[in-house]
Amino acid sequence: MEMQSLQDLMIDELRDLYSAENQILKALPKMIKKATAPELKQGFEKHLRETEGHVERLDKIFQQLDASHRGKKCKGMEGIIEDGKELMEEDADPEVMDAGLIGAAQHVEHYEMAGYGCVRTYSELLGLSDVAKLLQKTLDEEKATDQKLTELSRQINVKAEKAA
Ligand SMILES: [Fe+2]
Repeated sequence: MEMQSLQDLMIDELRDLYSAENQILKALPKMIKKATAPELKQGFEKHLRETEGHVERLDKIFQQLDASHRGKKCKGMEGIIEDGKELMEEDADPEVMDAGLIGAAQHVEHYEMAGYGCVRTYSELLGLSDVAKLLQKTLDEEKATDQKLTELSRQINVKAEKAA
């Protein structure tokens, strides 16, 4: 695609995020199944519903920009999810697996936070305040999820350390 302006760059990154979110939608149910700790399962379930909302917000943004969401497969997210799949195939103690799932999910969240932070800033610079507000909402939810995962890891990593 043409990459002549900051708006072009923003749309390119938004397509990347659209692909990333849809990959996460497919990966999260597998992570929910694999998780053992009820609070971790619930956390993933909550984020699955939030992720559906993130896709809806991106749809709204593409409409506002009169642009298509098509055309990109986010290779960064593909790699992060592939790493998570490898982990899930391991024959691990349930508590160790939970600790690993938290780590995998935090890789996902940090990748998204970087992407949303960029597009939020581009949209502000371009004077697209409605778009910026929508992106900020998603960014806030990704950050809150990351913090929740950090809290959960405090208990779960201790249990994992005692396993075996
Ligand atoms: Fe998301």
